[in-house]
Amino acid sequence: RTAPTQPQPNQVCCHHFGQCCLVFCGVLHRCQGYIKARMKSEEKRRTRFHSGHVPFSGIKTYVDPDTYEDPTQAVEEFAKEIDPSYICIERVIGAGEFGEVCSGRLRLPGRMDIPVAIKTLKGGYSEQQRRDFLREASIMGQFNCTNIIRLEGVVTNSRPVMIVVEYMENGALDSFLRTRDGQFTVLQLVGMLRGIAVGMTYLSDMGYVHRDLAARNILVDKSLVCKVSDFGMSRVLEEDTEAAYTATGGKIPIRWTAPEAIAYGKFSTASDVWSYGIVMWEVMSYGERPYWEMSNQDVILSIEEGYRLPAPMGCPVTLHQLMLHCWQKDAGQRPCFTDVLSFLDKLIISPGSLLTLATDTQR
Ligand code: ADE
Repeated sequence: RTAPTQPQPNQVCCHHFGQCCLVFCGVLHRCQGYIKARMKSEEKRRTRFHSGHVPFSGIKTYVDPDTYEDPTQAVEEFAKEIDPSYICIERVIGAGEFGEVCSGRLRLPGRMDIPVAIKTLKGGYSEQQRRDFLREASIMGQFNCTNIIRLEGVVTNSRPVMIVVEYMENGALDSFLRTRDGQFTVLQLVGMLRGIAVGMTYLSDMGYVHRDLAARNILVDKSLVCKVSDFGMSRVLEEDTEAAYTATGGKIPIRWTAPEAIAYGKFSTASDVWSYGIVMWEVMSYGERPYWEMSNQDVILSIEEGYRLPAPMGCPVTLHQLMLHCWQKDAGQRPCFTDVLSFLDKLIISPGSLLTLATDTQR
C-alpha cells in the first residue's frame, strides 16, 4: 500500500522562521481541508460497503455495484456512455451468455480510432438480465491498470445495449498458449505471469476479489501483455463452463479454487492467490488442463490429502516452489500478490535463477 500523497509539513523548508510558520499553517490548513473532504467521501463509500474490505483514506477502493439501491446509478457513475454512431462493428468473434461478442473500431471525436471488443445484450432480455450484463461494466470502469482489461464505455440509451472494451489481438491466454506449445522462452512466460501479478496486486489493493482467476479469463494483446478480465463474480461463474455446482448449491471452478472457498465459501485475496498458482502452472505447461482428466471430486480429495500439481516440463524449480507457496492449505501462510510480484521481479532481474529446472533437481 502506498501512502496518500499529501503535503508533508516537515518538508516545508525556508530560512526565516516567521515565513516558515506561515507556510506551515497554510499547508496544515489545506491538509485539514483535504483530510475532511476525503473523510466525507470515504464515509459515503463505507455506507455502501459490505465486502469486508475497510476503505482507507487516500486509497481508491472498489465499490460493489450491488450496494447501490439502483444499480443503473453505478453504471452511470463508473462507465462512460458512448454514442453508438462512434462504434463500427466489424465481425463476430464469440458468443457470450447475453449475446454476441464482436470486434470493431471506436472512433471518438478528436481521437484516433482504436480497435475494440463489443459485448452485446441480445433482445428480449429481462430487467434483471440487463442489470447483470451491465454489472461487469460498472466493476471494470472502476479500474485503471495496464494489466486489467480497459473499459471504453457502454451504450445503454439505445439498442442493442453494449459494453465496449479494448481489443486484445491474441484472445484468451489458455487457447493462445495451446496453439503455441514450446514457442516462448521461460523469460517470456515469466513476463506474462508478472503482468498477471501486477493486475492482481492492483485488484487486491482495491479490495476486489476475482473468484474466477484462470488462464481462460486472461486476455493477451499483440505485444504479449496479459490482462485480467471477466468481472462480475456470480454472473461470471454462471457463464464459466468450468464452474460446477457444489453440495451447497454454489457454482465454482473446482480446479482453480482454494479448498476453503470450495468447502465453506471463504473467497478472499488469499483464495485468488491459490488460483494464481494454478494460472502459473497453466502458463508453464502451455495451457495444459490442471489435474488433467481427474474428476472434480478426485481433485478435492487429492488436495485434502496433500497432493499438489508437479512442476510442468521445463519449469524452473523456483517457479514451482512459488506455486507450492500459493497452494498452502492455510490461507494465512500463502504469499500476498505484492510478495509474488517482487519475487517474480527478482527472477527477471537475475535470469540465471531460472536456469535450474525442476526436472534437473528431481533427477
Ligand atoms: N474476447 C472477449 N473479449 C475480448 C477482447 N477484449 N479482445 C479480444 N477478444 C475478446
